Amino acid sequence: MFAHAPVFELADAAATEHVGHLLSRALPGAEAACIVYLHGELGAGKTTLVRGFLRARGVAGPVRSPTYTLIEPHAVGAEVFVHVDLYRLNAPSEIDDLALGDYLAARHVLLIEWPEKGAGRLPAADLELTLSYAGAGRELLMQSHGELGRRWLTNLATDTSLIPYLSNIT
Ligand SMILES: Nc1ncnc2c1ncn2[C@@H]1O[C@H](COP(=O)(O)OP(=O)(O)OP(=O)(O)O)[C@@H](O)[C@H]1O
Ligand SMILES: [Mg+2]
Repeated sequence: MFAHAPVFELADAAATEHVGHLLSRALPGAEAACIVYLHGELGAGKTTLVRGFLRARGVAGPVRSPTYTLIEPHAVGAEVFVHVDLYRLNAPSEIDDLALGDYLAARHVLLIEWPEKGAGRLPAADLELTLSYAGAGRELLMQSHGELGRRWLTNLATDTSLIPYLSNIT
C-alpha cells in the first residue's frame, strides 16, 4: 500500500492518536527491543501519538510527556513500553543515567521524543517518525531502518484503516 517512507496527513489530535494506535497494532515480534524516535518541534504531536500507541497496548493511566523525569516505563504483562522525552537533557552523556540498557530486551519498546538531544548515546532507531505543522493539522513522515523497521512498516501497510490518512504525495 505504501513505500518505505510514507507520509500521512493528520487533521486533528484524534487522527494523530489513531495512527499511533495502528502503529502499535502493527508491531512485529522481535528478539530485541523496538526503538522509535519521534522528531518534531514543540507541540508537534509526539506525545499524542505515543498516547495512542500505549492505549492500544492496554495502558490505561495518564500518558504525558515525561519532561521532568525524562523516562516513564509502562509495563503491560511481560512487555515494557518506555516513554522517553529528552527535551530537558543538558548533555548527551546524561543519557547514561537513564539506564535505557535495562529496557533493551525482547518485547520492549522505547518511544523517544527529542532524540536529537541524545545524539551519539542512543540505541539506533528501527523507526523514525517526524511530525510537522501543516495548516491546522500535522503531517507525519515514517522512515524505517533495518530489518525490524522494514517488517513493521510492511505490517502497517496491510492495515486499510490507514488509507484515510495517506498523503497523495506518497
Ligand atoms: N494532528 C493534529 N492536529 C492538530 N492538533 C494536534 C494534532 N496532533 C496533536 N495535536 C495537538 O497538539 C498539541 C501538542 O501535542 P503534544 O503534546 O502531543 O506535542 P509534543 O510534540 O509532544 O510536544 P512537546 O515537544 O512539547 O513534548 C496538543 O494540544 C495536541 O492535542
Ligand atoms: Mg511531548
